[in-house]
Amino acid sequence: MKQVTLTVYPEKRLSRINREIYGHFAEHLGRCIYNGIYVGEDSPIPNRNGVRTDIIDALKRIRIPVLRWPGGCFADDYHWRDGIGEKSARPKRINTNWGGVTEDNRFGTHEFMCLCEELGCEPYIAGNVGSGTVRELSDWVEYMTFDGDSALADERRRNGREAPWKLKYLGIGNENWGCGGNMRPEYYADVYKQYQSFCRNYSGNTLYKVACGPSGGDYNWMRVLLENVRPWHTNAVSMHYYTIPTGDWSRKGAATVFSDEEYYGTVSGTLVMEELLTKHTEIMDELDPEGKIGLIVDEWGCWYDVEEGTHPGFLYQQNAMRDAIAAAINLNLFNAHSRRVVMANLAQTVNVLQSVILTEGERMLLTPTYHVFDLFKEHQGAELLASKLEGFDRNGTPMVTGSVSEKDGCLLITVSNADLTEDAELTVSLGGFAAKRAEAMLLTAPDPRAFNSFEEPERVKPLPCEAVLCGGHVTLKLPACSVTALRIFG
Ligand code: AHR
Repeated sequence: MKQVTLTVYPEKRLSRINREIYGHFAEHLGRCIYNGIYVGEDSPIPNRNGVRTDIIDALKRIRIPVLRWPGGCFADDYHWRDGIGEKSARPKRINTNWGGVTEDNRFGTHEFMCLCEELGCEPYIAGNVGSGTVRELSDWVEYMTFDGDSALADERRRNGREAPWKLKYLGIGNENWGCGGNMRPEYYADVYKQYQSFCRNYSGNTLYKVACGPSGGDYNWMRVLLENVRPWHTNAVSMHYYTIPTGDWSRKGAATVFSDEEYYGTVSGTLVMEELLTKHTEIMDELDPEGKIGLIVDEWGCWYDVEEGTHPGFLYQQNAMRDAIAAAINLNLFNAHSRRVVMANLAQTVNVLQSVILTEGERMLLTPTYHVFDLFKEHQGAELLASKLEGFDRNGTPMVTGSVSEKDGCLLITVSNADLTEDAELTVSLGGFAAKRAEAMLLTAPDPRAFNSFEEPERVKPLPCEAVLCGGHVTLKLPACSVTALRIFG
């Protein structure tokens, strides 16, 4: 049994963990929106305004703070006017990014904004820069948020929505270095400034504008962008990074059938996020020393080959205990970097990539990744505390990650042990925190390939485990391939 120690410094509060770090992303891609979140009002599947009630309830349980929509690559092909007004009159388009299927626009602005209201989360809209116009995006903002007398606000009212919505998060384009227009950072920076100038604040709504940042380790993009886009132009810059187990996009590997080597490749590939966050933060600290611009990881997760027999353009993949480990590593890293990281959005919510929910007809299941969000949810809005973790490594790759936060007099310690064979004993030193009670929940499985199927939907789920509180210390076991959430009540 490996010995792991975690020393907590309760008096050292480092940063606030923004709720939005636990955010999600839903694109018009495969079965994420249609036949996933949205089944339509006439569906026999229980729904509210066409959205599955079981999905609404599940997302509320993990306190979804923010939902990004409509893409992804789809966003730079999306024209918002296609998705308003009488549904039967909405134009049919081709979803050119994702399988060339027909997009009938049944789910549009009203449906999305009402879904966010239902979920109690912030909407995060990605605007079309790649194939749209400045006026189109500016009009969309006015349509959604203006309270007064204007043709666009009246049109919204005629379409059934009297009061304007509040829209905080507005992305100006998506991956404009790639599917969003193949731009150079110099060019995008200018285009960004033009677009954002005309996205205005109406009727007490204040936009929080997000510029398209780099793909993974493209530090040049971040530098050029921030040399040109200043804090008075933008509130945040995005960054996308996906874990590919093999490191090779042409053969990524399968979601539930993989070698131990691919498993450890997933762990080390996920830990790359640490380097990305550190180096991008360094550039941001240099060019924005007052820390006004946030970093938003608005696409992250594991990306595998699609499940056999499914549409290659739909990016449907199962989700195993391995994904829970990857999610825990990333979320612990986002917490640790929450001085700069203000939001993160898992790709994607339902039936696409590293989903928290999968559906099949009327059936729905919660993935191991969902359970990690559940175990980590008390970090939302908490204060990150300084801590020192002494774990162990395998061939130079750290196997244990963790983070500690405090909220309402209660500590939450989340720890993952990625090693496939080594159990560990964790000793937490509470550094003077007056603890009265400790309780822990454990997510693990005998095999990292274990997943929840529609036949066996609760194979991987968290269970209570023992945590012994004694004289300012807590001890508990971290089994191989596990994620633990320890709550200590003061
Ligand atoms: O999440 C799937 C796709 O990955 C998104 O549409 C795009 O932004 C990224 O390349």
